[in-house]
Amino acid sequence: MFTVRGIVTALAATASLFSTSVHAEFQTRQLRKPDVHARQVEAAKRWSNSHVRRSTGVQNITFSNPKASEFFVNGSAIPEVDFDVGPSWSGLLPISGNKNETRQLFFWFFPPGPGGSLDDLIFWTNGGPGCSSMEGFLQENGPFSWAVGEAKPTPNEFSWTNLSSVLWVEQPVGTGFSQGKPNINNEDDLAAQLVGFLQQFLIVFPEMKTKKLYLTGESYAGTYVPYIANYIYTHPGVVDLNLQGILISDPSLSWKWCKKKSRCRLRPQVENVFSFNQSFMAELDATAAKVLSHCQGNPLSRQRMDVWDTIFNAALIVNPAFNIYRIFDTFPVLWDVLGFPGSFPQAQTPLYFNRTDVKKAIHAPLDVNWAECSDINVFPKGDQSLPPAFTVLPNVIEKNNRTVIVHGLADFILIAEGTRIVIQNMTWGGLQGFQTPIANDSFIVDGVGALGTIHTERGLTYFEVELSGHMVPQFSPKAAFQIMQYLMGFRSTP
Ligand SMILES: *[C@@H]1O[C@H](CO)[C@@H](O)[C@H](O)[C@H]1NC(C)=O
Ligand SMILES: *[C@@H]1O[C@H](CO)[C@@H](O)[C@H](O)[C@H]1NC(C)=O
Ligand SMILES: *[C@@H]1O[C@H](CO)[C@@H](O)[C@H](O)[C@H]1NC(C)=O
Ligand SMILES: *[C@@H]1O[C@H](CO)[C@@H](O)[C@H](O)[C@H]1NC(C)=O
Ligand SMILES: *[C@@H]1O[C@H](CO)[C@@H](O)[C@H](O)[C@H]1NC(C)=O
Ligand SMILES: *[C@@H]1O[C@H](CO)[C@@H](O)[C@H](O)[C@H]1NC(C)=O
Ligand SMILES: *[C@@H]1O[C@H](CO)[C@@H](O)[C@H](O)[C@H]1NC(C)=O
Ligand SMILES: *[C@@H]1O[C@H](CO)[C@@H](O)[C@H](O)[C@H]1NC(C)=O
Ligand SMILES: *[C@@H]1O[C@H](CO)[C@@H](O)[C@H](O)[C@H]1NC(C)=O
Repeated sequence: MFTVRGIVTALAATASLFSTSVHAEFQTRQLRKPDVHARQVEAAKRWSNSHVRRSTGVQNITFSNPKASEFFVNGSAIPEVDFDVGPSWSGLLPISGNKNETRQLFFWFFPPGPGGSLDDLIFWTNGGPGCSSMEGFLQENGPFSWAVGEAKPTPNEFSWTNLSSVLWVEQPVGTGFSQGKPNINNEDDLAAQLVGFLQQFLIVFPEMKTKKLYLTGESYAGTYVPYIANYIYTHPGVVDLNLQGILISDPSLSWKWCKKKSRCRLRPQVENVFSFNQSFMAELDATAAKVLSHCQGNPLSRQRMDVWDTIFNAALIVNPAFNIYRIFDTFPVLWDVLGFPGSFPQAQTPLYFNRTDVKKAIHAPLDVNWAECSDINVFPKGDQSLPPAFTVLPNVIEKNNRTVIVHGLADFILIAEGTRIVIQNMTWGGLQGFQTPIANDSFIVDGVGALGTIHTERGLTYFEVELSGHMVPQFSPKAAFQIMQYLMGFRSTP
């Protein structure tokens, strides 16, 4: 095995064959392993050194409804987690108060950590449709993390529980541990069931009533979240929470634009990562099919799929470990306790949430074969709603204090350029699109520097995050944390 030191020694040995001055130059470039490590530790420290708002409230939530105790999770008894994650509550709650209600959603609720606010509540959902929010919990923004390639769970320094209470919900019905038969036809049905669940949640956990609410999610949740927000705004008083804003990351927002506009490409610096050969690059240029992308297009659009497939196939030729969720990935394919290491097939057993001890610890039904993404259609007849950018999103932006759209620049399943185009085609606050250009290097992450772009107009803030794949809280947790601070009003500028 090569060590840095070994290579440098070899270089130095070669150098000694040359003149003294060349030798001296090699000497000064020598890097010992401890030096490399020291630099890396220093860089990691700069990341850790967040200017996090610390609240002074007593971080102690107790629930007056005795039923809440049935959901209590012992934070020292979570399988494989060798530290105390603190108190939390999880289990199934129905989507309505009907005595005969058969549909239930699974949730995991955490109160704020020591620095977090007691006045707020973050709701998180993954997308799919039909993918579990336990993925977000365990691998993106939860209090502990067991991410792809990690040997065991570790505390998550950038847990969103450092900001406030967080509620992860497996929804809609048909997802993860949730119970009952899916029967929704569109996003309004989905919103009605989720709001029904929230009403039941507030009966068991009444101390969470009137909190400021932030709805957040990723990917197909870019469709769920605006519709849920719109449902709450158009049914005033339907749930005793104060909706303030939403965050959607690498979102599904639209579909038609790819058919009409033919430009949707990754940034040039990112395209280099594909390592396409020159003849293929020339071919792409010539056919103007530098139109990479799934982007925001209709899944049935042949034109779009052809180009996306061409690129995907070419990427796989040189890199069979190519991951559509993060274009940088190469061999080896890393192990994943949720069985979903990027876009590769991996037959891992047991899946963490399919373990009986885990199910018992979190009050999950023992008879469910948990999988990260459901193999049934959670919209049995398809999702009949139109994409939110043409429908509810403008209204939601106008009602929210702050609205945040985020996109990772190393995502290939949905491409940032597509999100830009959708924003430019959307009309909100009386005008279409952003009126001024998005400046490069405008997203400054504390302690890091420029890490992408941001742009705000008429209540909508759009962030692009360099080096992040599809799951921004997973791949750029510090950036995601700072973006949440902005959404929640914990910082005045993005
Ligand atoms: C939490 O609150 C309860 C009831 O107010 C109190 O008895 C308990 O000591 C508090 N615990 C902590 C850690 O502050
Ligand atoms: C929580 O789990 C730990 C470790 O198994 C155990 O020692 C402790 O008694 C449990 N606490 C409660 C309240 O059940
Ligand atoms: C459950 O009860 C409600 C009235 O409480 C009724 O409207 C509904 O049809 C019932 N559903 C089922 C599945 O029996
Ligand atoms: C989150 O809270 C933990 C525990 O208090 C702390 O160690 C960590 O630095 C916090 N992270 C951030 C980003 O504030
Ligand atoms: C632009 O938005 C309109 C609705 O406002 C929609 O009908 C149209 O398909 C969109 N065009 C593109 C190219 O996305
Ligand atoms: C260049 O890439 C294309 C697309 O992957 C492939 O079909 C072709 O064989 C490659 N040419 C060479 C010389 O590798
Ligand atoms: C989940 O566990 C059940 C029962 O132990 C098993 O039959 C099933 O194959 C497991 N599912 C996966 C995806 O591992
Ligand atoms: C921003 O960066 C892109 C990609 O590097 C470049 O094409 C563009 O010209 C830059 N824009 C400005 C205003 O400098
Ligand atoms: C949202 O706006 C209302 C009214 O201006 C204000 O009271 C509230 O503090 C704002 N919330 C945030 C998170 O900025």
